Amino acid sequence: MKRTWKSFSVLLVVMLVTALMAACSDSSGGSSKVSVGIVLPTKDEPRWVQDEQRFKDALSDSKYTTEILFSQGSSAKEKENVETLLNKGIEVLIITPHDGAAAASAVEAAKKEGVTVISYDRLITNTDAVDYYVTFDSVAVGAAQGQYLIDNSEGKDVPLYLYAGAASDNNAFLFFEGAWSVLQPKIADGTFKIANSSEAEKLKDKAELTRDELGKILGQVTTNWDPNEAKNKAQTHLTAASADLKGDVAVLAPNDGTARSIADVFGTDGDITSFLVTGQDAEKASIQYVIDGNQSMTVFKDVRTLVKDAMGIAVEILDGKTPETTGSYDNGNKEVKAKQTDVIVVDQENVKKELIDSEYYEASEFTGL
Ligand code: BGC
Repeated sequence: MKRTWKSFSVLLVVMLVTALMAACSDSSGGSSKVSVGIVLPTKDEPRWVQDEQRFKDALSDSKYTTEILFSQGSSAKEKENVETLLNKGIEVLIITPHDGAAAASAVEAAKKEGVTVISYDRLITNTDAVDYYVTFDSVAVGAAQGQYLIDNSEGKDVPLYLYAGAASDNNAFLFFEGAWSVLQPKIADGTFKIANSSEAEKLKDKAELTRDELGKILGQVTTNWDPNEAKNKAQTHLTAASADLKGDVAVLAPNDGTARSIADVFGTDGDITSFLVTGQDAEKASIQYVIDGNQSMTVFKDVRTLVKDAMGIAVEILDGKTPETTGSYDNGNKEVKAKQTDVIVVDQENVKKELIDSEYYEASEFTGL
């Protein structure tokens, strides 16, 4: 009797679990509709995890359904993500491409299904399948980094180490173009001497560089947005550098992830007396570096605004309205209507005001503020 009762209860549990599983797969399966699909490039960088969180915060009271997928640094995965979202019936796609040119085929597939495509932070290039672009002023980001090095260096012939982002990211060109616009006159007048790029050295008298010329410099000093690659390059450069390229130096690092690893390398070289190093993204780890004096500055890009702009455009589309834009960007194939946001330079002086008082982060997340 006891045994029968036991097998009956096991059967009951099995039936319950089966019913529960069926219910779950129903709600997340192909039949459930998603209005806005969001595709972000990688979870491996805090920058994009931050965007995910800010999207979630902004969407908690939205009447439209959304889904966020990550491409993990792979264009193939990105294409698959877009297809998954298309199968869920999305009407708007918000996408940060891993590779701006390779993403064209993914958004062309979306366009074929009548989906409105919003390029988010990074522009998708050489296709007419992009409808809108929401972005920070990326040329201003680079210019702010360059200007910081100018304003905080002393004397003449300061060794200047240049680093850049991934050449597959249109932003890497914009950042470097912005930095070059202010640094080049200071290289020409002897304030700085280039320490680690023969291509930049060759072009040092040219105020405006073509995309090809920028590509040549990037080819030498790219980090591929990878902190490890940045670290290896910095080590190689310092090993090769002669004594006149050490001492008090300036380092153009393209973002916070690469800045921290480059700073760690420069910080342990006995022949580097002091170094200035730039960054961007206001990642928490870099805010701590700035507070501790290990990274000179970061450029704060308030992701809340970018998310608000992207979702604002998406909702206008879903409501059948025409979104307002403030300018346009040439993606090599068309002028893409764009909405652009300003950026803020942050260093030890204003870190508390800009990031804590503005409630972007909480004071308790840092030490020594
Ligand atoms: C973004 C930066 C980011 C970098 C690496 C760029 O396109 O604008 O904020 O640090 O990609 O992911």
